[in-house]
Amino acid sequence: MIRRYRSFLPVSDDTPVVSLNEGGTPLIETPEIVSALGGDFQLFVKYEGLNPTASFKDRGMTLAVSKAVERGARIVVCASTGNTSASAAAYAARAGMRCLVLIPEGKIAFGKMAQALIHGALTLEVRGNFDDALEIVRELGKRDDIEVVNSINPYRIQGQKTASFEVCDSLGEAPDMHFLPVGNAGNITAYWMGYKEYRDAGNCSKLPRMMGWQAEGAAPIVRGTPIESPETVASAIRIGNPSSWEHAVNAASESSGAIDMVSDEEILDAQRMLARTAGIFVEPASAAGIAGIVKCHTGGGIPNGSTVVVTVTGHGLKDPDVAVENSRAESIIVDADMDSVLVAIGLD
Ligand code: F0G
Repeated sequence: MIRRYRSFLPVSDDTPVVSLNEGGTPLIETPEIVSALGGDFQLFVKYEGLNPTASFKDRGMTLAVSKAVERGARIVVCASTGNTSASAAAYAARAGMRCLVLIPEGKIAFGKMAQALIHGALTLEVRGNFDDALEIVRELGKRDDIEVVNSINPYRIQGQKTASFEVCDSLGEAPDMHFLPVGNAGNITAYWMGYKEYRDAGNCSKLPRMMGWQAEGAAPIVRGTPIESPETVASAIRIGNPSSWEHAVNAASESSGAIDMVSDEEILDAQRMLARTAGIFVEPASAAGIAGIVKCHTGGGIPNGSTVVVTVTGHGLKDPDVAVENSRAESIIVDADMDSVLVAIGLD
């Protein structure tokens, strides 16, 4: 990814590129969703769960870790709701660096915990939430041998902006509206930066309205005040005081977009709907953008004929516990004979 968009990124010939072949994720047209909603627009899903560690974080991590190696840092550190830690652990392993991750105790999805542990990151479960963990990480970052790879690291945002380049390259133009979930608010900041840079370079001629979505129980930007104890089923965006708050607000206002919120129920409905209607499996936080499309369309907010892109940020397999429960389905145990199978499927 760094190689492909090199001229837009802060790298030189001396930067040792640490890559797992991230980026290049599919942009999938989903007319079946639009039909299900009774809409009249074109919808494309940017499936970021198909990155090497199954979330969009890899785009920023390749650059942040490459620059850490370049400057001679020895330890990569982050606070995380699970995906940043998974990505940091993998890229640190690739670079031969140590990795320390601070996660909120008991509050990250099972698959993400598996990733941090299998890649060998020293994993600390903090008795607190993401915001508490990030405060500690900021302090740790004052040490010279430590590189913080949260999105307060500007290279993370620089790397993540490449997703909007890919959207424009696929569509041949920027979309009219771009939906995505908002947690620590780095990604909406990155997309907006990317779209503007691509337009300025003459690679697209317009800019999309940026439509960011928080979960109702963790919606500090929408409510205009930090949330001390954020709560949502979408654990990835369970954040009460986003680092890139102002950048996110700017992205929404400069683009005539919005930052709004959806309930956990809307998020779970959207996750199921996307899986059953389009065959795309995402984690709950990623479904917030889909829920946002449903809400916005219902309120008449998507003009007919629009081209709409939604970024689904993380793969559904990250959080199998929520998926099984949200499926509202159960497997059936049968004896290993034809009669039992026929009875079970109602063909006896
Ligand atoms: N979707 C997923 C799957 C995420 O993991 C995150 C953030 C977001 C959306 C929100 O992106 O923070 O740039 O606004 N996850 C971070 C983490 C906080 O630690 O993995 P954002």
